[in-house]
Amino acid sequence: MNIENSCIVIFGASGDLTFRKLIPALYNLFRVGRLGQNFSVLGVARSELTDDSFRTKMRGALVKFEKAQGQELEDFCTHLYYQAVNTSDALDYAKLLLRLDELHDKYGSCGNTLYYLSTPPSLYGVIPECLAAHGLTTEEYGWKRIIVEKPFGYDIKTAKELDEKIHHYFEEHQIYRIDHYLGKETVQNLLVLRFSNGLFEPLWNRNFIDYVEITGAEAIGVEERGGYYDGSGAMRDMFQNHLLQVLAMVAMEPPAIINADSMRDEVAKVLHCLHPLTAEDVKNNVVLGQYTKGEVDDQAAAGYLEEKGVPADSNTETYMAIKCEIDNWRWAGVPFYVRTGKRLPTRVTEVVIHFKTTPHPVFSQNAPENKLIIRVQPDEGISMRFGLKKPGAGFEAKEVSMDFRYSDLSSASSLLTAYERLLLDALKGDATLFARTDAVHACWKFVQPILDYKAERGRVYEYEAGTWGPTEADKLIAKHGKVWR
Ligand code: NDP
Ligand code: BG6
Repeated sequence: MNIENSCIVIFGASGDLTFRKLIPALYNLFRVGRLGQNFSVLGVARSELTDDSFRTKMRGALVKFEKAQGQELEDFCTHLYYQAVNTSDALDYAKLLLRLDELHDKYGSCGNTLYYLSTPPSLYGVIPECLAAHGLTTEEYGWKRIIVEKPFGYDIKTAKELDEKIHHYFEEHQIYRIDHYLGKETVQNLLVLRFSNGLFEPLWNRNFIDYVEITGAEAIGVEERGGYYDGSGAMRDMFQNHLLQVLAMVAMEPPAIINADSMRDEVAKVLHCLHPLTAEDVKNNVVLGQYTKGEVDDQAAAGYLEEKGVPADSNTETYMAIKCEIDNWRWAGVPFYVRTGKRLPTRVTEVVIHFKTTPHPVFSQNAPENKLIIRVQPDEGISMRFGLKKPGAGFEAKEVSMDFRYSDLSSASSLLTAYERLLLDALKGDATLFARTDAVHACWKFVQPILDYKAERGRVYEYEAGTWGPTEADKLIAKHGKVWR
């Protein structure tokens, strides 16, 4: 599908996300010809930048992150513009309106506008209201879409309030709640693996699967984002959105067809089946942790409480592990163990499907387990582990693996990154890979009891930076007779 001429308005254009992710993603789409020539990018923030100084800043980002250079870089920069606006000041929107009219005239983009909210979340409700007050949301002259960055709300109550506010000014089909994990190639590949192969789907249920493990581990700490992170924690930052979306991809029923509605119907359905947690469940099945100083990659790493922007008495979790259950026919009785954390030994996101063992061990007491490992990042790929005969006398089984690496595909070098894919989809009007309101609410509803537990200063265990989290997380899985891979 070709994209129409359009203007992309980035609110928060002087910020970190624009610099590190959004402009590089747009540049790469331009470079491979996916944006064409008739588009403009209008950066908006309070800082008093000009078109030229904005271009210089973005050129710097592109040189730094994309090693961009030459005519292609210069051509791209001519599409960048900047308008100083205080987004919470309604009067400033008149300037925005004029600027947008100018750009639509210049690029023949007929009013088609994609708004990208990359500001502090406190402005996510205000910006749509001010846009509407200046007639900037009406679709009489070109389509209008709005991408809302995470976090979408702070808990179930604020998520609903935010939705209500945005829905006053935009219809659901115009709203694109971004979760960049859905833009990752290997997360999408989960669907293709499951639903295009006769091999896996018949086994993908409680009859054959013992348990499922989902890990989102990071070696980095909170870096420069201590202030933001402390108000968020691992639960809001990674679990409520990214990892629950991955869980939904693993557990959902096949959609009848792949389009935004049927895909998102199935995602919402399975998220609604998450077994609600009582306070007792939270105590027994959730482990929260916070890193203390240690060593990661042979480098000394400060403890969380020493990080910039973090209060010295913070109780915020930088790690969480949880046992979830799904109340439906496919998954009843199959535990899903999910863990995520910062300052773990390495960066890895993977899903491990542990299949049940044979009903009777014929060859040896310790027959290898059958596992399917779906590596989301890095080294994207899939590995099937099973038992074969150890060469030599007797019938001893040993674990072997069949591995597929994404990088072996000849087309792998042209893969779009998550932000590239999602920006392109939003420009095309395809919301399949964006979170729908019911799914977002289902995720918040599920985590709310954990938030309540934490608010009452529920126990947060320490773990040393560079280790796999608190030992309590190992006990959590061990008490059900399982192990983390
Ligand atoms: P930054 O703090 O770096 O940037 C915030 C931006 O908002 C700046 O451009 C700031 O510019 C602008 N801004 C703040 N107040 C106003 C205002 N009243 N009117 C107009 N502009 C304003 O944040 P990030 O770029 O890191 O994050 C942006 C959003 O994206 C946040 O909601 C964050 O949670 C989310 N996000 C960020 C990720 C990241 O990796 N950085 C990852 C995923 C989500 P100025 O001061 O010039 O007005
Ligand atoms: C962001 C979180 O949404 O996802 C960060 O705010 C986290 O804290 C990041 O580091 C992880 O994304 P990725 O793509 O590096 O796994």
